[in-house]
Amino acid sequence: MTIPSVFVDNLSHSYAGKLALDKVSLTIARGSSFALLGPNGAGKTTLISILCTLRKADSGTAEVDGIDVRRSPTAARKRIGVVFQDSSLDDRLSAYENLNFHGLVYGMPARDRRQRIGEMLALVELEDWRDAIVRSFSGGMRRRLEIARALLHNPAILFLDEPTVGLDAQTRERIWQYLDQLRRERELTVLTTTHYIEEVETADQVCIINNGVIVNQGSPAELKLAHGRSWIHVVPRDDTVRTAILARFPETRDLGSNRLAVPVAGDGFVDQFLASFGSQLSEMRLEQPSLESVFLALTGTELRDRAAGRRDAEQAAGRRAGRR
Ligand SMILES: Nc1ncnc2c1ncn2[C@@H]1O[C@H](COP(=O)(O)OP(=O)(O)O)[C@@H](O)[C@H]1O
Ligand SMILES: [Mg+2]
Repeated sequence: MTIPSVFVDNLSHSYAGKLALDKVSLTIARGSSFALLGPNGAGKTTLISILCTLRKADSGTAEVDGIDVRRSPTAARKRIGVVFQDSSLDDRLSAYENLNFHGLVYGMPARDRRQRIGEMLALVELEDWRDAIVRSFSGGMRRRLEIARALLHNPAILFLDEPTVGLDAQTRERIWQYLDQLRRERELTVLTTTHYIEEVETADQVCIINNGVIVNQGSPAELKLAHGRSWIHVVPRDDTVRTAILARFPETRDLGSNRLAVPVAGDGFVDQFLASFGSQLSEMRLEQPSLESVFLALTGTELRDRAAGRRDAEQAAGRRAGRR
């Protein structure tokens, strides 16, 4: 039997009595891409920080490449590279200096360091910025530099905690291209957390986590097949209509801001729904089965947050301001 890249069994963790991870179990195959998908507060960062030895779980087992992270943290750390949710670069140093410091921490000999730093900067197309001070970098450049740094000591497993938060769509796309290329060329195992549902479509396995509990796991196609259903998203014209819809279709989800999602139940349902309520809605659209609808079906909430892009950008700006 081959050893999986990541093995997590019955892992639980709480902060001051509040459960953040509740008996989480998962296995990640070597060389695969694994997406941990869940809303803010789901427990994603907690799981990553346990796996990368920064936090000790209350109970359960976590192994990377067959190494128990609690018993052998130093050995485990050598196998993994991490891109943290919050940028952890030193703004005052150059790209080269940031990578060199990381290499020193990992005990890489000087000649290895020089060579690997050159290779990694080329990989993320930052060679021309080698001696530039990180403070002058855009969000996307910082993320690329962090990926280069995470790979410097040649890990077998890469953890990325929300690697694309706060980046524009084009930069996000580019980051995913690097990650795919890396995985193909280096047989790297990649574990990514995200709350952008469209980013997990190409993952080998998607694991949905909510309130510290793994709700479901499978390939995007498997999840859609098993749990994907169509939904009618509507905005009722007034409270009477809203109450009538909720009473008639008890499986309806309340999405907030007056929006409801009614699960489509079989052929003819949409016509039937429209005949009853069509004239009493101020908005309506049909959502085909998607990972978003899987998430809705499994958790009862919508992951998509229309304001998320803006809020992420604000948070990133706040973090940058705070570091100065
Ligand atoms: N250092 C901490 N102290 C107390 N509570 C925390 C801490 N970090 C996270 N939490 C709580 O644990 C839960 C999971 O958080 P987290 O792992 O950061 O989720 P995610 O990364 O999915 O947003 C949340 O309810 C959060 O408020
Ligand atoms: Mg997080």
